Amino acid sequence: MEFVKKVLCIGAGYVGGPTMAVIASKCPEVKVVVADINAKRIADWQTDNLPIYEPGLDEVVKSAIGRNLFFTTDVASAIAEADIIFVSVNTPTKTFGIGAGKASDLQYWEKTARQIRECSHSDKIVVEKSTLPVRTAEAMERILNANAEHVHFDVLSNPEFLAEGTAIKDLLNPDRVLIGGPETERGRAAVEEVVSLYAHWVPRERILTTNVWSSELSKLTANAFLAQRISSINSIAALCEETGANVEEVAHAIGMDKRIGPKFLHASIGFGGSCFQKDILNLVYLCEHFGLPEVAAYWEQVVSMNAHQRTRFVSNMISKMFNTIVGKRIALFGFAFKADTGDTRETPALYVTRELIEERAHVVVTDPKALDNARRDLADLPQDLITYEPDPYKAAEGAHAVAIMTEWELYKELDYRRIYASMEKPAFLFDGRNILDVDALYDIGFSVYPIGRPGKSRL
Ligand code: UDX
Ligand code: ADP
Repeated sequence: MEFVKKVLCIGAGYVGGPTMAVIASKCPEVKVVVADINAKRIADWQTDNLPIYEPGLDEVVKSAIGRNLFFTTDVASAIAEADIIFVSVNTPTKTFGIGAGKASDLQYWEKTARQIRECSHSDKIVVEKSTLPVRTAEAMERILNANAEHVHFDVLSNPEFLAEGTAIKDLLNPDRVLIGGPETERGRAAVEEVVSLYAHWVPRERILTTNVWSSELSKLTANAFLAQRISSINSIAALCEETGANVEEVAHAIGMDKRIGPKFLHASIGFGGSCFQKDILNLVYLCEHFGLPEVAAYWEQVVSMNAHQRTRFVSNMISKMFNTIVGKRIALFGFAFKADTGDTRETPALYVTRELIEERAHVVVTDPKALDNARRDLADLPQDLITYEPDPYKAAEGAHAVAIMTEWELYKELDYRRIYASMEKPAFLFDGRNILDVDALYDIGFSVYPIGRPGKSRL
């Protein structure tokens, strides 16, 4: 079949894979290629066992693979034939040199830009999909157009707002699609090309076009605001625990104010995931770079509060369990950073496990989708203090405490009588996600401690 347009995505990760699968399924006349240097990932995308778990992803991939959706490790050839190139390589927080711990590590991104330049023999539209510091598009444009005599590159920003666990739903029915481009005739034409892809299924009024810098900054700002709501409600949760107020009631009461709204007000053990912390630190670094230390400090506090929430949770566990957990078996229910994903990047459970091991507890980790990632993330810790157990009932056997780390539906439906019967007594339950019924568990015999709500202690 002759394709009318050829789209390439470099980077077959959590963003690139699902986004391209949806574009391919909605635009059958467009050839969509996803390229990655990681051969295993590319191979896995072409099996029934996809490299990431995402509800609904299998069906979308199946609908288009081999028809107009292709996966390859041959990045160079894929670049040569593409009209539009989305760049979705990883941009983690820098761990070395200037800006270590805050700034984005742009090495993969820059390598990609240079490779695009080397392999291109015709004009291309290059679209930033990865979240990047403001004004990165400008640098990309300079790298791409340096030495390019017969080829021209237009660089656009099209940040992805999907959340993991609901990626397919978010892609099929986005609140908005944002496309930033240069305010020139060429720039506007390039933006229109990308708009026309999304217009296959997204109503026009939900496709926003802005200048490039606004688009880049909107992505960082959206994540900063969302994370700020979580840190704000978690800070109030701490106060609730001291005063006898109930954070769920407070969240409900304030959320009914239309100006505040009810979403993203769930007190928890803290936010995780690959985006929130990384993007806020990136924003903080940018503010410092542009001489705005007060603005930087304001946003950095959102990350500090998140770390405090995790530490507070562990301190509370230790103090409730008679100030020592040495040798005690503690079952962590969930390791993923949220439900419906196997992703464990920046998961609060990782920090909790480390703190518990530091206190010389024996940690049993259970999770329906994230055990392989947990094994990898915890590989540097003493393995004689960690057990990985897919079955939550077995994980809880002989444990002094169960702590809920992830809000998986399955943990709401377990037989807690059976769990209680198999545990050491007194049996403790720490609910880091506020998903369980405190009274019902107390009646079974547990001492129960949720977040920001009165607990019930049997002692
Ligand atoms: C986030 C943004 O939502 C998304 O728009 C962006 O593209 C990427 O970053 P994601 O990290 O996948 O998405 O998940 P999200 O649902 O935002 O949850 C992030 C973390 O916050 C999770 O650990 C979640 O458990 C926690 N959270 C969320 C809370 O603790 N309380 C809440 O009320 C909401
Ligand atoms: P995200 O959550 O942003 O999608 P991931 O880490 O899941 O991030 O995916 C990024 C992908 O980009 C990885 O699969 C990685 O192998 C790939 N990648 C990094 N550098 C390059 C490169 N130069 N060429 C092709 N793919 C790359």
